[in-house]
Amino acid sequence: MLRSLLVLGAYGVGCLAAMGQSLLPMPTHYTPAKGSFKFTSNIEMKVEQGAPAPTVLLNEALTPAAQCKADGKAVVLVRPYAGAPTTESYKLRVTTDSIVIDAASQDALTRCGATLLQLRKDEQSLYCVEIEDHPAYAWRGVMLDVSRHFFTLDHIRKQIDIMALYKLNTLHLHLTDAAGWRMEIKRYPRLTSEAAWRTSESWKEWWNGGRAYMKEGEPGAHGGYYTQDELRELVVYAKERGITIIPEVEMPGHSEEVLAVYPELSCTHIPLKAADFCPGNIGTYDFLENVLLEVMDVFPAQYIHVGGDEAGKAAWPTCELCKKKAAELGLEKVQQLQGHLIRHMNEFLLKHGRTLVGWDEVLADTLVPGTHIMNWRSTSLAREAVQRGLKVILTPSAYCYFDYYQDAPPFQPEAIGGYLPLEQVYKNVSMDELNAEERKSVIGIQGNLWAEYIPTPEHAEYMLYPRALAIAEIGWNAEERPAYKDFHKTALAAVASLKQRGVNSFDLATEIGLRKECKEPVKHKAVGCPVSYNLPYSPYYVAGGETTLTDGLRGGWTYSDQRWQGFIKDDRFDVVIDLGKEQTIREVSTGFIEANGAEVWLPATYEIYVSADGKDFTEVAVQTYKIGRHDRKACQTYTWKGKAKGRYLRVKAKPSEHGGWIFADEVIVK
Ligand code: ACM
Ligand code: ZN
Repeated sequence: MLRSLLVLGAYGVGCLAAMGQSLLPMPTHYTPAKGSFKFTSNIEMKVEQGAPAPTVLLNEALTPAAQCKADGKAVVLVRPYAGAPTTESYKLRVTTDSIVIDAASQDALTRCGATLLQLRKDEQSLYCVEIEDHPAYAWRGVMLDVSRHFFTLDHIRKQIDIMALYKLNTLHLHLTDAAGWRMEIKRYPRLTSEAAWRTSESWKEWWNGGRAYMKEGEPGAHGGYYTQDELRELVVYAKERGITIIPEVEMPGHSEEVLAVYPELSCTHIPLKAADFCPGNIGTYDFLENVLLEVMDVFPAQYIHVGGDEAGKAAWPTCELCKKKAAELGLEKVQQLQGHLIRHMNEFLLKHGRTLVGWDEVLADTLVPGTHIMNWRSTSLAREAVQRGLKVILTPSAYCYFDYYQDAPPFQPEAIGGYLPLEQVYKNVSMDELNAEERKSVIGIQGNLWAEYIPTPEHAEYMLYPRALAIAEIGWNAEERPAYKDFHKTALAAVASLKQRGVNSFDLATEIGLRKECKEPVKHKAVGCPVSYNLPYSPYYVAGGETTLTDGLRGGWTYSDQRWQGFIKDDRFDVVIDLGKEQTIREVSTGFIEANGAEVWLPATYEIYVSADGKDFTEVAVQTYKIGRHDRKACQTYTWKGKAKGRYLRVKAKPSEHGGWIFADEVIVK
């Protein structure tokens, strides 16, 4: 499908900006026209036989923002769209006195309504255009984690309204996790009378402070849940706005809250000790099936997400039931019971006409054809999934995790870590890394808002927007999307519009962007000098290998950007740099990074030694630093200044009492 901006006469992209129009996502074929359609006091709506009935968004788009003064009759004609390439396809022609829409379905009419809302010129008129529009991907999603912090239905409805405006069509609700179970399940009332409530409102405080649950209504109990009736209403609200809600119920891991109240479903039966269900226990299957029956009853979506990620499985190898079940099934390893459980649930869902979605860990086992994978780790897992005949929704953390910092961490509210600015979301190379054939098995893309560090609805909006708009653009236009600099302009306008609507979007106009130190290589005495490691770097955080610390390249805002080398062993950081010949050293600086959520800490010592022969070292300086548990210092450059002489320079950095990782980017010698 060719995505193009057809330009007629004098109206080009620059002109559109001047006209104040900024369509997001960009329509497939878009021809601006002269003049504007004026709302009149009398708008006649005609719906042809076989055409979809007007939808909430269309009606909203055709309601002028102010009382119309103009007399006369404007006509809106809705026609069926024969031969539409997708169910969301529409054609739209706005002239000075009429609006003609061809729509493939109600959802298509809703997408057209979203476009018309963005075509507002002022309170009483619309820009004239001709548009033909089709989405590249059927799944353009946002995930809200309502477990780590409970969000109200009002907040969710508001996000649905915004999603609809930008043609996002799938809302994935992460309904269950350790921090709280959020959906009423009639058969298992303790899931919401106890497992939905905890001792602290803040996830961080609760996680670091004992992780206890409480009873609903008890003084000091924080949390909440949605009743089935409320969720049914939410499903309808979303559907009326062209959005499908996908529920997620985690299994077999991330299930501490269930096992706190139904400990008999864990291997040890000890409350508050397990995160994983016991897959050797028939009761686990009964429980999960019963839960899924109620979930399917509330959520009519084709897709049901069963999690499947990050199960520790630690108790399984010593559990009699697990061992027995694994032996019966002829499994080599008891851990393969995860695959058995997921397959079982897949067959169960298929029997009920539904399709299972799981995080990419489920790829570790044989899967029932038709399983859908959300790849959150590497692109190679997405490739593996499509090569195994499965369908994929791309949600790689490197591009789609909206809980990461979106701008310079020292100036942002605390986040889980990482660095994912709008440009990086937009770049989303994971799609480009798949070839055209492989891409056919990708059904969509999704941004995920994990909420450990997102305690309020305002903060949720701050992290979602404008990054969710990048997902909207990629999902609609895939590889034909506008260049980032054009999208950036549109996103700036969208942020202004969101703020006007009372959405607490991140203010893109104030973005600081990349860490200044990493923009240009640094020149110094040790560039290119060999480094020997008295303590090894971690095989998981190699960065550029042995040349990393003297390659002249500083790290950015995240330790995973391949510029930072990670150390976890013994005293962590202890390297020797051979400067080639004896020389005077006046300054030695080393960059370190902190990401407390990931147990990455700044060092407590910074030690400099010199040697003429690489064997006998003389201490030059041992500098010490106090590292507070709640410090948020992001990247720090530790510096020694003075005068020393030597060919070999040894730099050590020891961890604070918090232990964890030390990451370094460069040893700069002057
Ligand atoms: C995940 O981030 N554990 C899916
Ligand atoms: Zn077990």
